[in-house]
Amino acid sequence: MNLAFIGAGQVGAALAVRLADAGHAVVLAESKEGSASVAAAKQRSPRLSSRPVADAVAGADVVFLATPFAANEALLRPLADALAGKILVDCTNPVGPGLTHGLRSERSGSDLVQSLVPKASVVKAFTIYGFENLEDPSYPAYNVKPAMLFCGDDRGAKDRVAALVTDLGFEAVDVGGLVQALHLEHMTLMWVRLVRMGGHSPHLVWGALRR
Ligand SMILES: NC(=O)c1ccc[n+]([C@@H]2O[C@H](COP(=O)([O-])OP(=O)(O)OC[C@H]3O[C@@H](n4cnc5c(N)ncnc54)[C@H](OP(=O)(O)O)[C@@H]3O)[C@@H](O)[C@H]2O)c1
Repeated sequence: MNLAFIGAGQVGAALAVRLADAGHAVVLAESKEGSASVAAAKQRSPRLSSRPVADAVAGADVVFLATPFAANEALLRPLADALAGKILVDCTNPVGPGLTHGLRSERSGSDLVQSLVPKASVVKAFTIYGFENLEDPSYPAYNVKPAMLFCGDDRGAKDRVAALVTDLGFEAVDVGGLVQALHLEHMTLMWVRLVRMGGHSPHLVWGALRR
């Protein structure tokens, strides 16, 4: 697939490098002049290229949003038309003071993102773990893969994102419509509290067992 990344920091670079290794055409958006993270990501993989944000988005089927949540409104408003008909993978989390929900749990961050780009199909994914597990989701001692929960309202968009989730080595678990994003965001806060404050390993992941 043709993929573009807005944001190439801990999350964006981890996903971009591995998806390029998996054979996808990956372009990093130059949304800021002289971005240190874009330059660093390109150093990590010769398969990555960068282009001005409008060009990167225009050439992509799927656009990843991996920016600080607070940057999203200013970033996305001017891109609303360019993102029409595209899949926008929302990797961002609204985090408030003291590891609370950044929108006071009144609405999800992905709901806000979708409202900024109403003609795009927003899928929330890659948010429930730290970047360490996006870099390397292999758990060889287990015969199940880490579950990657994702949600969105567009069936076709979710199928394409599920394929990328699988390419990256996770079990793709569709948890429903974008209305579920608020609950994924609370799962994220739980993971962050457990790991970044509670002393659990950053390689703590969830598994989906069924019978
Ligand atoms: N870190 C994690 O473990 C983790 C896991 C899951 C989800 N998330 C979520 O993923 C998102 C990204 O987190 P991260 O840890 O990858 O952050 P990060 O390492 O700080 O990277 C942020 C990226 O966004 C770019 N950026 C910052 N401000 C921008 C702006 N105003 N306009 C355009 N680009 C801007 C940065 O570019 P420059 O380098 O040029 O500043 C950088 O490429 C956040 O919403 C976070 O909550 C994080």
